[in-house]
Amino acid sequence: MSSPMPNARQRIVSGMRPTGPLHLGHHFGVLVNWVALQQDYDCFFFVADWHAMTSEYADPRRIKQFVPELAKDWLAAGLDPEKCVIYQQSQIKEIAELHLILSMITPLGWLERCPTYKDQKEQLAAKDLNTYGFLGYPVLMTTDIIMFRPAHVPVGEDQLPHLELCREIARRFNYLNCGGETGTPYFPEPMAMLTRESKLPGLDGRKMSKSYGNAIALGEDMDSVRKKVMAMLTDTNRLRKADPGDPDVCNLFPYHKIMTDADRLPEIMTGCRDASWGCVDCKRLLVQSMERFLEPIHARRAVYDKDPALLWDVLAEGNRKARAKACETMAAVRELVGFDF
Ligand code: TRP
Repeated sequence: MSSPMPNARQRIVSGMRPTGPLHLGHHFGVLVNWVALQQDYDCFFFVADWHAMTSEYADPRRIKQFVPELAKDWLAAGLDPEKCVIYQQSQIKEIAELHLILSMITPLGWLERCPTYKDQKEQLAAKDLNTYGFLGYPVLMTTDIIMFRPAHVPVGEDQLPHLELCREIARRFNYLNCGGETGTPYFPEPMAMLTRESKLPGLDGRKMSKSYGNAIALGEDMDSVRKKVMAMLTDTNRLRKADPGDPDVCNLFPYHKIMTDADRLPEIMTGCRDASWGCVDCKRLLVQSMERFLEPIHARRAVYDKDPALLWDVLAEGNRKARAKACETMAAVRELVGFDF
């Protein structure tokens, strides 16, 4: 069956806050997904630097260094600026304008009731998050999204309450400014596209996270990767090489499942169970697999490390494209709210 508009790709928008280097957990969760989506969707991916300020406001200058690093991690993972738009939130000033307008129509109760609001405030108790900006985080996120009028928003489960608020704010804007129940809505209500969690645990078996110290960064050099792998805990019941082990309780095995050739897995499992193959050999093999996996990622990153101007060119081009879309939206919005002076 032929579709009515064969060339119209559906749009998606997603972003990440620039707060530090990305690791393999991000890769196998978010990035693999983004890289696949750029083939089939009209993708807008942005560095959410204003969002980082909601929690880093006491020292916002820290954010700057992470902006190019985040974009570099994306390009290293395989985002292709020929296929998707990569841009920086704070360079699209129209986002600040739409945010202001949306803040006028967002009831305080919606924000105060948002489950992530209380959660985050408790979790980050060391920072004083009693600010207007932090309460308004979902309004800014709504703005990021509806500015580009996407059909879908790829996000993790933790972001679903924000997406629900986004849909409600879009609906309220449409109701108030596009002729009530019977008018033609301007903003589509975007759907969440749920990102599955990474199947790659941290080096200690817990969820991979920088704060647990169990992560391997995408840009990490091989010497450091090797040291970390060789120090991993294996099956803790296997004290001597002659003791039989159990791959199902070993921290290494999930890594082999993802990074080592599938046809080597049976020999790894048998070798572990009948103690014919030691943990050190198993780790050496994993180092090899990891090196093979990271090699193209490091190679792409090196291009931008060598010539940082190239990276800024990618962002400048993405910013230009995003700004063009945002200007279209704002012209329509100003007209709808009667501020088209
Ligand atoms: N809140 C998101 C996070 O912490 C980041 C984000 C900001 C975002 N704006 C967005 C994600 C818009 C998707 C769409 O992960």
